[in-house]
Amino acid sequence: MIYAANLKCHHSRASFALYAQKLDEALKIHTKDEVFVFPPSSCFYANVKYFTQGAQNFYPCVQGAFTGEIGKEQLDEFGINSVLIGHSERRALGDNENLIKAKFDFAKEHAYTIVFCIGEDLVCKKAGKTKDFLHKQLENIDLNYEKLIIAYEPIYSIGTGVSAEFKDIEEVLLFLNSLSKAKLLYGGSVNEENIKAILDIKHCDGVLIGSGALKVENFISLIKRINKC
Ligand code: 13P
Repeated sequence: MIYAANLKCHHSRASFALYAQKLDEALKIHTKDEVFVFPPSSCFYANVKYFTQGAQNFYPCVQGAFTGEIGKEQLDEFGINSVLIGHSERRALGDNENLIKAKFDFAKEHAYTIVFCIGEDLVCKKAGKTKDFLHKQLENIDLNYEKLIIAYEPIYSIGTGVSAEFKDIEEVLLFLNSLSKAKLLYGGSVNEENIKAILDIKHCDGVLIGSGALKVENFISLIKRINKC
């Protein structure tokens, strides 16, 4: 299973150092799952052994005159070669299809692991257009890229405390599985109550967790809940 934590714009350098140390300690005796953490880029921690640190955002450049951005050279310094692309919160902040495609192509060219986020809003869902919409969000990327992980994160469920309905998740994951052999994650209010049922859904290879992973103890407990160790 894949457990990924997106810490968004939370944590300081000091608090994330503790987070990383505690998570590493917990994962030392628990190596059968793949664990990713996407902290703010200012918090990258140099010494992680048992999980993969990734970038929530980057600019598709090695380095250059791109004020305010982080490129490959800065990511290399921390050994980062996993990235999130397409998160709805970044799309809302202005990441358009061109930029998302440029990020994907750059990340692929440099053999990064890509967690590519897609998801519809409630209006789209109610109009019965979910699959068309998701298909469109995937049309500019290489669905055969071997280091691609697709995260289905319906916007209407992110940060609400209520996940999408399991039958809806199942239907979408089945659809995504028909398009790509990529590993599939679900994200959107994953918590102690629903994680087991979500991970039991067919074609679900893991979860992408926001609020439920902000405290390292909670993230560890979500990982261990399934594995009982
Ligand atoms: P929540 O778990 O807080 O709903 O956030 C999900 C998310 O956006 C992960 O990328």
